[in-house]
Amino acid sequence: MREKAHVREVGPRDGIQVVKTILPSAQKLAWCRATAAAGIRDIEVTSFVPPKVIPQFADAEEVARGAVAMGGFLASVLVPNLKGAERAFALGVPVVNYVLSASEAHNLANVRRSTEESLQDFARIAALRDQRPGLRIALGGGIATAFGCTIAGAVPEARVVEIAVRLVEMGADELIVADTVGYGDPRQVRRLMTAVIAAVGRVPVTCHFHDTRGLGLANVTAALEAGVRAFDASLAGLGGCPFAPGATGNIDTEDTVFLLEQLGFDTGADVDALVALRREVEGWLPGERFSGAIARAGLPKTYRAQAQAAA
Ligand code: COA
Ligand code: ZN
Repeated sequence: MREKAHVREVGPRDGIQVVKTILPSAQKLAWCRATAAAGIRDIEVTSFVPPKVIPQFADAEEVARGAVAMGGFLASVLVPNLKGAERAFALGVPVVNYVLSASEAHNLANVRRSTEESLQDFARIAALRDQRPGLRIALGGGIATAFGCTIAGAVPEARVVEIAVRLVEMGADELIVADTVGYGDPRQVRRLMTAVIAAVGRVPVTCHFHDTRGLGLANVTAALEAGVRAFDASLAGLGGCPFAPGATGNIDTEDTVFLLEQLGFDTGADVDALVALRREVEGWLPGERFSGAIARAGLPKTYRAQAQAAA
């Protein structure tokens, strides 16, 4: 049996933050349904931000409600503050991912307050979660600009580790370590992810890479070496933070699945079905830039052969 590696589709959230077209809720939900049918059972479906900050997510309630009702996959949402978490909790979204930045300057640009204030807000969110009756909502603690920042430059690794530890102490059930602007390189990823995993023990850690400088998949390989087994990715390599200058797309979902499967991991995902979905989504988003090699070249005839031979 192959070891599992986990891919979370973040296209309906990160992927469409900076696109020009506002997608109808029904298309966002169709995207989720087809992603789950292609075998990816973990999807970040929307973002609970004020509509005037990102108009794309004016329908966050409708999409989150639809995604939770649809079933067949684990729906998560992004929230930048307590107000966002309250909106998500009210709908019973099972996984709520909070975002703050290790870079003080990016935190200020992105959520208009200091990183320390964001940490205090996370403590309030966790307290509110703990008071809720019924099923426990899982909280993801997201650390943006963990590998560097286009505003501030270098971000000290010790600071990222300290934030990771504090998020876990405050109640995060999972950590998401994000290279928001594609500054990370494999050596740095191996070093930082080894340090984060050592510091947080058994708490699951996801890496969220952007391919801005072409090192996205190399960084996945480095993170695997450090013990990471979960990755965010976006269909067609869409994505980017509107408040991080120069940000571009996430690692491409189809290519990420291809890499993980070639390395012998079981992602559960069907690459051809993902490529078919990507063609459909491309049609919804005229004028956008799509990336990814597998959609262009197709799977090799030897797909999985090496992994199977090694097994
Ligand atoms: N959802 C809906 N409305 C919200 C909200 C949320 N999550 N957070 C705040 N608001 C509302 C407030 O109720 C207030 O409304 P009012 O003017 O009618 O009273 C208004 O927005 C301003 O609230 P305030 O707390 O002062 O927010 P702010 O203007 O300081 O903005 C954030 C802070 C966090 C809401 C904003 O910077 C943001 O949404 N950032 C997210 C950026 C992002 O998504 N980046 C990409 C992902 S990394
Ligand atoms: Zn991102």
